[in-house]
Amino acid sequence: MKILITGCCGFIGFSLAKKLLLNKKNIIIGIDCLDRYYDVSLKKNRLKSLIKNDNFKFFKFNLKDKKKIDRVFDAQKINIVFHFAAQAGVRFSFSNPFKYIDDNFLSFMNILENIKKNRIKKFFFASSSSVYGDTKKIPSKEHDNLNEKNLYALSKTFNEKISQVYSEKYDLNICGLRFFTVYGEWGRPDMFMMKYINASIKKNFFYLYNYGKHKRDFTYIDDVTFFMEKIINNKRLKKFSIINISSSRPYSLYKVMNEINLYFKAPKIIKKKRDSADVLNTHGSNRKLIDISGKYKFTSLQIGVRNLCRWYKHYYKLNRNRI
Ligand SMILES: NC(=O)c1ccc[n+]([C@@H]2O[C@H](COP(=O)([O-])OP(=O)(O)OC[C@H]3O[C@@H](n4cnc5c(N)ncnc54)[C@H](O)[C@@H]3O)[C@@H](O)[C@H]2O)c1
Repeated sequence: MKILITGCCGFIGFSLAKKLLLNKKNIIIGIDCLDRYYDVSLKKNRLKSLIKNDNFKFFKFNLKDKKKIDRVFDAQKINIVFHFAAQAGVRFSFSNPFKYIDDNFLSFMNILENIKKNRIKKFFFASSSSVYGDTKKIPSKEHDNLNEKNLYALSKTFNEKISQVYSEKYDLNICGLRFFTVYGEWGRPDMFMMKYINASIKKNFFYLYNYGKHKRDFTYIDDVTFFMEKIINNKRLKKFSIINISSSRPYSLYKVMNEINLYFKAPKIIKKKRDSADVLNTHGSNRKLIDISGKYKFTSLQIGVRNLCRWYKHYYKLNRNRI
């Protein structure tokens, strides 16, 4: 099977590519522009580990360039697409709104047009738990009302809505994956756990928003890639579907800090008031995911954090001061 993964040098795209490459029948085409949103050397190191595999082919360019994407689709006979390339980040969307227009709206349309033109068998794309915003209905279910609080969340809702329109109008198989705070080895340095570990290693202050009262539905990366591999050929998927990818076990930031403190010395904390862009709690229902994929034992927070911390120590030794 020939599978295109956009954002293959990012956290989730890389992790899925690595997993799918374990199956020798898969050929992975990766696209990424290695943008500078966070440490590029981490992205390059992810790429280094992928290109060792002969079944991996890489193209470096920005997806806002439609001609370049068209060429990849024309030249490669792609069966499945996972589209992860996007500008993430909630607070960043207030300071850099136009990056979201390029990466999350324009680039998305360039991909979607190619899904239609090339009659791609299945198109999966990354949405986000942030589309739910602050909600009293917990756990959040896929058909609940959405309450986007920032341009990032709005861009993901746009992706969902326009894909549904294309799926219905052009008879395309499309599935949007609403990820809930994914963490683990090779994770993103702009996210809570990695930021906390970095502050500890570099002896920096750690800014704790909303005095640490937020709760997040932390979902371990191996669980996420397990489900994605499983749904590629899943017959229970409808023509168009949206699925929460969540462990459905929210933890307070304090609980997570305590877990990490077992492996790293606690950094100096500076407590800050709540940022209005931040959602207070996230908690997704994973009933639909389980109905589609079957029963599954999610990785516990203790094991997930342990794996992340062990990996970080090893990575940091090899790449001192790099994350
Ligand atoms: N990690 C999470 O917890 C989480 C939660 C919710 C949603 N998501 C979504 O999942 C997807 C993957 O997230 P991630 O954590 O791997 O993010 P990431 O930032 O690590 O990866 C995104 C990758 O896409 C690339 N990219 C961005 N814009 C591009 C463009 N225009 N052209 C080419 N490449 C481009 C970046 O260089 C980066 O390597 C994103 O769409 C994100 O919004 C992630």
